[in-house]
Amino acid sequence: MVLRMDLLRIDYTNVLAGSIGAEHGIDEAWLRGFADESATALAAVQARRTTDLRWLDLPHAKDVHQSILEYAASVQGQFENVVVLGIGGSALGNRALHTALNSPFHELLPPEGHPRLFVLDNVDPDLVGEFLESIDPTTCLFNVISKSGSTAETMSQFLIFRRALIEALGEEAHVEHVVVTTDAEHGVLRPIVEQAGYASFVVPEGVGGRFSVLSPVGLLSSALVGIDTAGLLQGAADMDARCRTSDLFENPALMYAAIQHWMQNVAGRPIAVTFSYSHRLRHMADWYAQLLAESLGKRMGRDGSEVLAGPTPVRAVGVTDQHSQSQLYMEGPHDKWFTLFSVDHPDHQVPIPADFSDLPALEYLGGRRLGELFRAERDGTRVALTESQRPNLTITFPRVTAHTLGQYLYLMELAVAVMGEHYGVDAFDQPGVEGGKVAAYALLGRAGFEERRREIEAASRGDARTV
Ligand code: PA5
Repeated sequence: MVLRMDLLRIDYTNVLAGSIGAEHGIDEAWLRGFADESATALAAVQARRTTDLRWLDLPHAKDVHQSILEYAASVQGQFENVVVLGIGGSALGNRALHTALNSPFHELLPPEGHPRLFVLDNVDPDLVGEFLESIDPTTCLFNVISKSGSTAETMSQFLIFRRALIEALGEEAHVEHVVVTTDAEHGVLRPIVEQAGYASFVVPEGVGGRFSVLSPVGLLSSALVGIDTAGLLQGAADMDARCRTSDLFENPALMYAAIQHWMQNVAGRPIAVTFSYSHRLRHMADWYAQLLAESLGKRMGRDGSEVLAGPTPVRAVGVTDQHSQSQLYMEGPHDKWFTLFSVDHPDHQVPIPADFSDLPALEYLGGRRLGELFRAERDGTRVALTESQRPNLTITFPRVTAHTLGQYLYLMELAVAVMGEHYGVDAFDQPGVEGGKVAAYALLGRAGFEERRREIEAASRGDARTV
């Protein structure tokens, strides 16, 4: 049974004209008038649940979850380090879950029986080279994740660490140090898995990279580092149940999608800031940034016209970025809207000593708890944003738990899918990313991409201007 107190809450009061004025806020009559369009968008998304949007059903995939738990149990205690080799949707959720649910100092002091987790989502040689110099590969389980099974970054990392393992352990023994998550059929990873005999999991059909965190893509590393994956899936399932209604005023995904649509397409605010008043949730904002940007940032609309659509996601962390970005947010151009994360109950209470109580500049702090200061700063930011007529909404996590994170992940995936309907774009492809991938293949001389290489070379001929 889900208790109301465990549910995520969205407070959208401060995006409304009633709070921030008619010039910058949403007229509630507009929302009421948009209710039918919301319902139609939801129906269009839900109609694809059993065809190409199978990620909608991931919270209910019990067998897959069971096989992940069994694998995690079978390797428990064998590895000091789990290393995710993946990028984009094959990495961001892993990091977000780990940093939200495990200690910020987990890698310094991993709890007994739990490995450290490293997410190497870059091919900068200064990252990978430093890792090779710092960590003994024989202490690692490499969790190779690629839906397409061919992404150059992930494949090159796989080749590097596979070779390091073989050199240290030999061809046969290295196999136990690799687990692969990839498509059931496509890409080069699957035949490699079969040939080498690596343990493996499947990214199911109808589950795109940035919608895959609740599949083995995100669940496996989570299970390996001791995250309550059952709680995660339960939270997502509870949000799924909550978001079945087509009533805009009852469905948080529909409401969030309608507000994003209004902000950009009605009010002309292109920037969506996620301001996490939770250090633990800061990488959730990174995960959401990819989901939003890659899903809605499209040149072409579904009707074939050029739309050049898409919001620009920005991430900020409270209170840190109050001392970096708040000035802009409060007084800069009216081109942004804000989603604040708030946590009702942090896990820690840290008292502030009542020392120097004769100094008025410190006296008001002494004897309080750090959480009070943090809350006051968050609420202060909310008040200041509202007073400067900046639309802001708050998502409250009663606590940061696997259950509330499961709710958040599912909420945002569904909201972005619905936004795709409002924006009139295909939220599930990424032709721009593919374009970059193809250009990199061509520049590296990959067979089949010769024509593209010639085009790039012809275009870059000419005098460079440098200073
Ligand atoms: O959301 C997406 O589809 C992308 O961000 C991919 O996750 C990313 O490009 C990595 O692709 P792959 O998992 O195929 O290696």
